[in-house]
Amino acid sequence: MIDYSKQPITSIQTEFHPIFEFSMAESENIDKVTVQSFGEEWLKFNSFSKADINQIGLDYFDILPSDFFSPHKKVLDVGCGTGRWASYMADKVGFIECIDPSDAVFAASRFLNEYKNIRISRADVDNIPFNNDSFDLVYSLGVLHHIPDTSAAMVKCVEKVKKGGYFLVYLYYSLDNRAVGYKLLFKLSNLFRAVISKMPSGLKRIICDLIAFGVYYPLAKISRLVEKIGLKSISKKMPLSYYGDKSFWIMKNDALDRFGTPLEQRFSKKQIIEMMEKSGLKNIVVSNSEPYWHAIGQKA
Ligand SMILES: C[S@@+](CC[C@H](N)C(=O)[O-])C[C@H]1O[C@@H](n2cnc3c(N)ncnc32)[C@H](O)[C@@H]1O
Repeated sequence: MIDYSKQPITSIQTEFHPIFEFSMAESENIDKVTVQSFGEEWLKFNSFSKADINQIGLDYFDILPSDFFSPHKKVLDVGCGTGRWASYMADKVGFIECIDPSDAVFAASRFLNEYKNIRISRADVDNIPFNNDSFDLVYSLGVLHHIPDTSAAMVKCVEKVKKGGYFLVYLYYSLDNRAVGYKLLFKLSNLFRAVISKMPSGLKRIICDLIAFGVYYPLAKISRLVEKIGLKSISKKMPLSYYGDKSFWIMKNDALDRFGTPLEQRFSKKQIIEMMEKSGLKNIVVSNSEPYWHAIGQKA
């Protein structure tokens, strides 16, 4: 465990992990509507199967050097949501600090209950309550593109990494590796997002479930079929092919994430490398496999 660098304003004793709450009064780089929307989302999507976590966890953490894993390593999960990636990492490292500003911390407290080497704090990226140079690894998966100034948020994350330690990030891609038709389809889907993300949470969830059922599921299964008949390179170019081997639960969750979130930004591989360099990272690797783009760098 790593000592906090400031005092929590309160500690909430839940039935599960206690939650330490930090003041966000001075945080400027935060979209409060988006945070509230995620709180509602994660309190409903509060459980994931071990099979789903292990399958997708491998997709994200494939770029972490295999000799990184050790019981001495201290890790920070920024924007933990339910804590599903902390559950993936828990038996591979020594300790994990999970932070999130939303009500998701209550879902995380329950979901991570069995892990004794995890602590949960309610805090945001603008006020991470640890000294700089504290962690062997800081990761933030699917979070920083929901923050107004993604580049500034990345700097705050990297500050907490020890020299020589790693920062791993997943940011929505700007479809920079896709054909024109794919990009047009995306622009169309963004119009739907503009409307759906403003709906009340119950209605939003119903619509997103319908999108998962009517769009994600069939497209994922068609691309899977195309792959099975030996046309893998074509299937990989099809929209939503990533979900070909994923569960329907994951499709529902990602549809809600994609269409229900008010603020999302997208970045090209080049922009991500520039932001990572600006944050003080070297040896940057952007994975060429999905999910696009996930990247890792080492603190200089
Ligand atoms: C798409 S979810 C990803 C959650 C988790 N990393 C995962 O992949 O399951 C985005 C998370 O970022 C959190 N978040 C939003 N704004 C944030 C901020 N300013 N600082 C830290 N986390 C934030 C949300 O509360 C939400 O739980």
